[in-house]
Amino acid sequence: MSTPILMLGAGRMGGAMIEGWLAAGAFDGRELMVRDPHPGPAAELAARAGALVNPPDADLARAGTVVLSVKPQIWRDVAGETAAWLGAGAVVVSICAGVRSGDIAKAFGGRPVARVMPTTAAAIGQGTASLFADDPAARARARALFEPLGAVVDLHDEGLMHAATAVSGSAPAYLYAFIEALEAAGAAGGLAPEDGEDPAELRRQVTSPGGTTQAALEVLMGEGGLPGLLEEAVAAAVRRSKELGG
Ligand SMILES: NC(=O)c1ccc[n+]([C@@H]2O[C@H](COP(=O)([O-])OP(=O)(O)OC[C@H]3O[C@@H](n4cnc5c(N)ncnc54)[C@H](OP(=O)(O)O)[C@@H]3O)[C@@H](O)[C@H]2O)c1
Repeated sequence: MSTPILMLGAGRMGGAMIEGWLAAGAFDGRELMVRDPHPGPAAELAARAGALVNPPDADLARAGTVVLSVKPQIWRDVAGETAAWLGAGAVVVSICAGVRSGDIAKAFGGRPVARVMPTTAAAIGQGTASLFADDPAARARARALFEPLGAVVDLHDEGLMHAATAVSGSAPAYLYAFIEALEAAGAAGGLAPEDGEDPAELRRQVTSPGGTTQAALEVLMGEGGLPGLLEEAVAAAVRRSKELGG
C-alpha cells in the first residue's frame, strides 16, 4: 500500500473514509494528507492523529495514492491545481460520481486510475464500495483503501458504475426517505414522532445538491412517491385493523 494518502476534499464522503480508517486502525494519521479549503471535523480528527492538513504544494510529491473526493462539478479544477505537483508513481482513486476514468487519467498526466462508488457507512466500517479499474495496480490500491471500510464489489465494465452509483451509492438515502415517509404517515395517523436522529436530516447528509441521489429522491419524494404511498398504505392497514376488530 502506497502512502501517504492525499485526500483531495474531506467533506461528507472523504471525511467518512478518514473516520473509518482511523477507527479501524487501517492507516495511521501520519499516513494521511488532506487538502480542503474548509477543513471539517474529519480533517481535524486526522490532524490530531498526525495528518498534514493543507500542506504546501511541494509536499504533494510524497503522496503515493491520491483520492479524488471533491464534487464532480469541480473535479477538473482540482486536478488542474494538483496534477503537476504529484510524483510519477502516484495512483489516483476517484469517488466522483459519473466521471470517467479515461478523463481522470488524462487530467492527472496519464497516471493509473481506479473508480470507486462508496457509501458514508464507511465511517463505521459498514460501507459498500463498487470498484472499477483497467489498471491492475490501481485496482489493488483501491481495494486496499476500501477493504477496511466494509464490503468491496469488483466491476469489470465501467458502464456498470452508473447503476452501482444509482443503486448502492444512493441506497442509504432511499432508506432514510422511506423511514421519513413512514414517520410522516405515522404522524398523520395520530402517532407522536420518535425523538432521536431525524431521518430527513440523515437523508440530507447523503444528498449532494444537483447530484445523482437528488435526482432519484425527486422521484421518490415527488408526486406519486413514497410520502403519499406510505400514507395510503398506513391508512389502509388502519382501516383493515378496525375491520378485523369488528
Ligand atoms: N456523500 C455521499 O454519500 C457520496 C457517496 C458516494 C460518492 N460520493 C462522491 O464523493 C464526492 C464528494 O461528495 P461529498 O458529498 O463528500 O461532497 P462534500 O461534502 O461537498 O465534500 C467535498 C469537499 O471538497 C472540498 N473542496 C472544495 N474545493 C476543493 C478544492 N479545490 N480542493 C480540495 N477540496 C475542495 C469541499 O469544501 P467546501 O465545502 O468548502 O466547498 C468539501 O469539504 C462527490 O464526487 C460524490 O459524487 C459521495
